[in-house]
Parts: sequence; C-alpha cells; structure tokens
Amino acid sequence: MGVKGLHWFVTNACPGVCVVVNLKEMAENHHSIHPGSPPVIVVDAMSCLRHWYTPQSWVCGGQWREYISSLDKFINTFTAAGIRLVFYFDGLVEQKKRDEWVKRRLRNNREIAKIFQFIKSNKQQPGRQMFFIPSALATFTRFALKSLGQEVICSLQEADYEVAAYGLRNNCLGILGEDTDYLIYDTSPYFSINKLCLDSLETVMISRQNLCSRLGLHITDLPLFACLLGTDVIPDNAMEGFRNRCVASFCSQSRSYDKRTNTVLAVANYISTIQRTYNSVMVLEEMLPLGSDKAILAKGIESYILPGQQSPWLPCDFSYSPEASANQDIPLFLDQEIFQIAKEQHVQNESYMVYNVLSSGEVDCSNTLEDECDTELPGQACIYYCARQHIYSVLLESGKDSHGAYPVVKEWFVCAGNSLQQPDLVQPKQLPGGTPSLRILWLSKGPEAEKRRCCTFLACFQLQDVTEELQALEASAAAVCSLLMYLALQVDSLSVEDLNAFVAQAVCLEGKSAAQLADLQLAHIDSRAVQLGSLFVRGLATLIMGNGACGFPFRMDNLMPWHVFDGKLFQEKYHLAHRGQPLHELLEGNESWLSKFQNLMSLICKVCSEKGRKIQSRRRENSFVPASRGINYFSERRERRGASRFQISDRIPSQPYHHPNQGCPWRGPPTPPYSYEFRIPGPGYRSRRFNVRKMDKRLQFASRWPR
Ligand SMILES: *[C@@H]1O[C@H](CO)[C@@H](O)[C@H](O)[C@H]1NC(C)=O
Ligand SMILES: *[C@@H]1O[C@H](CO)[C@@H](O)[C@H](O)[C@H]1NC(C)=O
Repeated sequence: MGVKGLHWFVTNACPGVCVVVNLKEMAENHHSIHPGSPPVIVVDAMSCLRHWYTPQSWVCGGQWREYISSLDKFINTFTAAGIRLVFYFDGLVEQKKRDEWVKRRLRNNREIAKIFQFIKSNKQQPGRQMFFIPSALATFTRFALKSLGQEVICSLQEADYEVAAYGLRNNCLGILGEDTDYLIYDTSPYFSINKLCLDSLETVMISRQNLCSRLGLHITDLPLFACLLGTDVIPDNAMEGFRNRCVASFCSQSRSYDKRTNTVLAVANYISTIQRTYNSVMVLEEMLPLGSDKAILAKGIESYILPGQQSPWLPCDFSYSPEASANQDIPLFLDQEIFQIAKEQHVQNESYMVYNVLSSGEVDCSNTLEDECDTELPGQACIYYCARQHIYSVLLESGKDSHGAYPVVKEWFVCAGNSLQQPDLVQPKQLPGGTPSLRILWLSKGPEAEKRRCCTFLACFQLQDVTEELQALEASAAAVCSLLMYLALQVDSLSVEDLNAFVAQAVCLEGKSAAQLADLQLAHIDSRAVQLGSLFVRGLATLIMGNGACGFPFRMDNLMPWHVFDGKLFQEKYHLAHRGQPLHELLEGNESWLSKFQNLMSLICKVCSEKGRKIQSRRRENSFVPASRGINYFSERRERRGASRFQISDRIPSQPYHHPNQGCPWRGPPTPPYSYEFRIPGPGYRSRRFNVRKMDKRLQFASRWPR
C-alpha cells in the first residue's frame, strides 16, 4: 500500500511533516474565506474501514447494527462541524496492481489461519491486535453510507487516483485516508484517519510541503521519488540495487542514520542531483533492471499526474488521462445504453460487480474468515460458484458467440488452496428456463416485468419454482429463505441445528437495538459458527450481485445484513440450537417470533425436501458449552418464573438424546422439536441437489486449485 518505507519515514524520522490539526477549526476557517461553499472532505473509504469498525466483536460475521450506528455517529460529528463528506470506494483492481493485491491476499490468508487456531484453542475471539475486518465489510459499507444519506462514489479505476483528482477538482478541505500515495499526488491536504480523534476532530495532517522541504525536493519530484522507493506499480526488486547504490554514495558524504532513513534520504538526494527532464528518466530506465517493460518508470510517474497537471519528468506533449487509456468504455459486447446504465449504477447506485463483469469480464473477492482446516464446510467461493455462473449468464446473454458459447469470466476469488497465480476461468451457465436479455430485465416496466425479474433472480439460485411462496413473505424474510435454501442444497453438512440458528437469529433481530446487541455477551466462540457467519454474509453479497444483474427485483435495503444478520446473536443461537434447547428458548419465549420462525423453517425444509434434500439433525457436541453468564435474554423471564437461571443449559446432554423441554413447568406445553421437518421424500424422489464435493472436483478441474 502506497510508497515503500515512506510511512515509517514520515512518522519516525521526519519531525515536522506530521502536523496536528483540528478539522473543525479548519472548516470554520474555510467557511470564513469561502462563505458560499461548504468545506468538503473526500474520504478514501477503503482505508477507513478498520477505523470505522468499532464494535467489540469482529469475528462472528459482523455486528452490523452496531456498525451502522458507529458510522452514523462518524457522519453526524462531521455534519455538526459543517463538513460535508464524499466517500470513495475501490470499484476495481487495476491490472498493474494485481500482483500486489495477490500478495496481500495470501498474507491475509495466513493471518486468518492464525485467527482460527486461536479460536479453536481458546474458544474466544482473539485480541484486537489480530483484528481482521468482517467479510464483505467494504461491500456493505457502501450501502450503509448511502442509506445514511451520504454521497458515495465507486471508482472506475484505483480509488486513490480518483480521490486525489476529486480533491483537486473540488478544492476540498482535504483527503481523509491512510495511504502514502496521498503525499505524492499534488492535491488537497492529506489527513490521517488512524490519528483521527472523533470527539475533538483532531487529527494529523501529513504535510507534502514540509516533506519536500525536508528532502530538498520540488513537489513535482515526488512521483519520481515514490517510484524509486517502490510502489504498487513498480516492483520492489527492480529498484533495490539502484537504491543500495544511492545509499552507498550518499552515506559516504553524509552522517548516517538508520538504514530506512538513509534509503529515503539517499533517493531524494539522488533526484536533487539530476536534471528535471524526461531525458533523465530515460537514462534511469536504461540503467535499471526493469525487465520487459522499460517504460514502467514513466508509467509509474504518470500514475500520479492528475487531470490537467504536467510533469517536468515526462515528455512535454504528455497529457495523461488514465480513464481514456484504460479499456473502461469498451464493453465485452453490448449495447451501449445498457453498458452506460451499468456504469452509472456502478458509480452512484446500487449494483455490485455487475459493471466489472460487463466491462472487463473480471471480478475479484477478497479474503473471508474461513477455516481452511474445516473439511466439511467448503469455502464461500466454492459454495456460491453455481449462483455466480448463473448470474454471469444473465449479464453476458447477449455476448454469446455464434455457437451459443458465453465469454468466460475471470475470477480472482480468495479461497483456501487457491494460490491466485492466475484467475479462474468461469463458464457462465444458462438458466434453466432460458435467459431474458438485460434490456428486457432492466428496462421493461409493469407487473409482468417485475415478475420476470423476480423469477430470473430466483433462477440464479435454482429456486425459480418457489417464486410464489417466496413472494408471499416479507422481502427480507424471502431473502433469508432464498439464501438458506440455496445453502442447504449446496452444503451437505448443513444441519437442522444450523438452519435453526440462522433463522432464529434473523427473526429475533427484529426490534433489537445496536446497544442491546452490543451488550450481548458470549461465553464462548465456536469456530464453525464463525465460518457459517461469514458464509451467510458472503451469501448476502451474492444476492446483491444477483439483484443488480436482474434489474432489482428486491429493494437493496432488504438484502442488507443489518436487517437480517448479527454475528453474536448468531453465535448465541448456534450454541442454543446445538445444545438441543427447545424452540421456545431459541425464540426467546416470544410467540410471534416462534410462529414466524416455524413458517420460515417449514418452507425451507419443504422446498429442500421436494428437491431431494433431507436436512438432518446433527448436534455438535463439541460446540456444547456449559452455560454461564452471558446468555441474557431469557434470564429475566426465567427468574421471574422462579426457575434457576441455568437450570436447563447446565445439564450435559445424555445419550441417547433426551429433549430438555420435557417436564419444564414454566414453558407450557412442550413444542415438538423440529416438527416442520419433512422426513419422507415425496413420490418420484430423485436427488437433484448439487453436491459440493462433486462441485469441488469440477472446480479443481476448471481451475487447478490444489485442494
Ligand atoms: C441512480 O442515482 C442517481 C443519483 O443518485 C439517480 O438520479 C438515479 O435515478 C439512480 N438510478 C437508479 C437506477 O436507481
Ligand atoms: C415479541 O417480539 C415482538 C417484536 O420485537 C415484540 O413487539 C413483542 O412485544 C414481543 N412479544 C412478547 C410477548 O414479548
């Protein structure tokens, strides 16, 4: 991320570059100078995610309601200071940065493996020093900020470039983020998100001017300086020998600091000794072992030149416009009108991954909190593979060649065993009932069109025959059911208890405030439940991709995790379900939740059964935890009824399984456990379900993942 070694240098070895500022005062100042235009800060959202995610629990799949409320507080603080925020998200990974992207993803995999080791040995969440953002946080933060009324822009190239350009073009008060690239661009001031104290609105400004004076450089030298230190674009090893030579000659003429400081000073010193011309860059290019791409240095410099700017280090007729040079406007086929809609929706609206498929046929998905050692639960990349193939077929229907073959989609999906050496080539898969064109899906109006969108969406998840039943439900309940049916059909090891936990948490989330959820204490964390939580949230992300592709049969809001998922609540329900607690307890003694739960579960089980999938009960003894403080919702009620607080859950279940509901006077008549289960397959039973293990084999074949 950013320029190698520069962050360390400015924070440790270069006093005077980091200046404490108060954004509120700066805003007031701006206001008195430009009374007509409110101060704007452009926010590099991707580098703020870690800072924004303040909920104590991060491992269970995300505390989405708490998260939204912390975002809300963030926005309100700025609004109260009279500052408008504009949020930028990375819309794609540029080719030239893919290597760096892959390196980081593989490093993340190792961190995630450590997190799971910790959870399995301690049954607790690791400390904040091992913090990893909840899966799909970036994706859903876009929607969260939009729902909080903020301007959100998803970039058409690397976000840092667009952020810097936006700051310059709109004369912004500054850029809020954490990326030394913002020191290099000649744009608005750069404020650190990590140093921000929200209450006072104090933070650190990392001053470009002060850096230049310290290094004896001109501001237009910074792009070359960055490239020689190494960036995401310029491979580190290409410059290493050169830097060492700089250091050697620099140290002989100057007092020595430590190695990192010397490197930065030596490179700056070198630049100050050469002529500020394109010719000097060409000489350097000859000198450096740049491999096949000699022009990489000039390209690296170009990547920091904003629209309208010039560089003395580049040819004088140079005028750079990365947007025009990227293939942004050449879709895989298409219909320009549809493509433009996709592009607008990508930038301002609500679609997700759709534009990436249409523009470059390439998509990526970063790390997920998954346990690579869990052999029963495949990774999300694998589980949603089939849905994605269908979604791609919807998007690429009119891109088929004369033989009816779809273009392939290149996927970079991080997943255990995928070394990410090259993208997986994914073949789109025709929907069962044929695929309407995007023009019809996106542009036609009226009830017929609505129905078509809905059916197409469900067909992507192989649920087209359940349309009516699902349409009868509330939209977010329908979303949860669709997702769980798909999951149950794909994942053999998903049990009744797992589904109970998913549905119970979705139902019981209703009416719970962020504060209530924050108070919920878990005695133990179960690693499998952690993975299931991530799996569910990634499933929601797959739903929103399908929703965008099919012309929005759902309002996006209905697919958002803060309406249907809470990580801790899920852990709690998971423990209860796997301990065999009665439904009544699982549903917190609330009759209306119980009946809603039973409706949803019976629909899920009925549909699965019709498709030949009988969902088994399978309690996981090792996730049994002796109840202790923590599981709070019910305690008050129990105490009121005079039952000892831990009467039920303290009991270790005996074999054979004895339902703990029996003989509990305070619960009323026992609910027959799992009465909604359809055990007898109907006539003409035939297993039509996808077997994930089989699918794994296909994947192996298609993509050479050493699984
Ligand atoms: C997209 O957003 C713009 C501006 O926010 C709005 O005018 C437009 O109607 C939206 N389009 C869709 C398809 O939601
Ligand atoms: C059940 O939950 C609903 C939704 O939160 C709530 O309105 C209702 O009062 C609850 N009922 C009981 C008996 O607690």
